[in-house]
Amino acid sequence: MKRIALITSGGDAPGMNAAIRAVVRTAIGRGMEVLGYQHGYSGILLDEFQPMDSKSVGGIINRGGTILQTARCKEFREKEGRERAVAQLRKNGVEGLVVIGGDGSLTGALVLHEEFGFPVYGVPGSIDNDLNGTDYSIGFDTAVGIAVDAIDRIRDTAYSHDRVFVIEVMGRRNGFIAVEAGLAGGAEAILIPEVPYSLPGICDKLRGAGARGKRSSIIIVAEGAGHAAEISPKVAEMTGFDTRYVVLGHIQRGGSPTAFDRVLGLRLGAFAVERLIAGYTAEMAGLVGGRLVGTPLSQILNAPRRVDPEKLLLAEVMAQ
Ligand code: F6P
Repeated sequence: MKRIALITSGGDAPGMNAAIRAVVRTAIGRGMEVLGYQHGYSGILLDEFQPMDSKSVGGIINRGGTILQTARCKEFREKEGRERAVAQLRKNGVEGLVVIGGDGSLTGALVLHEEFGFPVYGVPGSIDNDLNGTDYSIGFDTAVGIAVDAIDRIRDTAYSHDRVFVIEVMGRRNGFIAVEAGLAGGAEAILIPEVPYSLPGICDKLRGAGARGKRSSIIIVAEGAGHAAEISPKVAEMTGFDTRYVVLGHIQRGGSPTAFDRVLGLRLGAFAVERLIAGYTAEMAGLVGGRLVGTPLSQILNAPRRVDPEKLLLAEVMAQ
């Protein structure tokens, strides 16, 4: 393999730049060329690329976002779009594609391989941490850290005013960030899309706690489980507490990656290149039990990842 291409795709995640750096420098070290396409799959369709040398990935390890930029590409969902993408890659002499992204982006990579036999390799980059085949996706640790910092700050003002705060965190389809940040931030309730909840039941508990003298609380809600703006007034009505809400939104995706996400990005990026060179394709690099592994994308993408039931139980016990 003489030339590979690299994209970041889907929602950006802190630590993606570390993975870019590792892909480029590992490939160069193994005598290959790397073309970096801008804006994910859209950039492949538009032939928007630059050859990347070692210097081009200098000074980026501490930066959030992705220097290659990213996009969610509609055209790529159609076979015709994918056909054009493969033709562009082949025209530029690309023999393998590394995709850093979440489940949608890696599904695109798998389809590219299945339909056209194009060699692809996935690197999990998503703050959602909802991919099977790895204990951690790049960006999750940073996003959770940001959410916990926000919870800590909000708890100070919640206590001072005897208020209940509803804090909405990211996670359209899952509650990984909500559970992790809720546990670490000592939330009184954590609402996630995977588990049905009863708001009146939660409000009963808050009222009971209020009767025992606890007059401020934090409710964490993953965006897929409801909107803080709607939940907050309902909680006020059912409990009589003064309530406020905060939507953390994209703040969770920005800023400097944690040391964990930087090292994770470096390890997964380097591993992805080595596996491609060794002839493995349509896999995703992952960290499982502290070890780097490659798992077929077809295994990873056919089932949703479940939140650890032990953590859910712990959250319930802690909320008593
Ligand atoms: O998949 C990552 C993620 O941040 C989700 O948690 C969130 O629901 C979504 O992306 C937001 O997407 P966008 O940046 O396109 O609004």
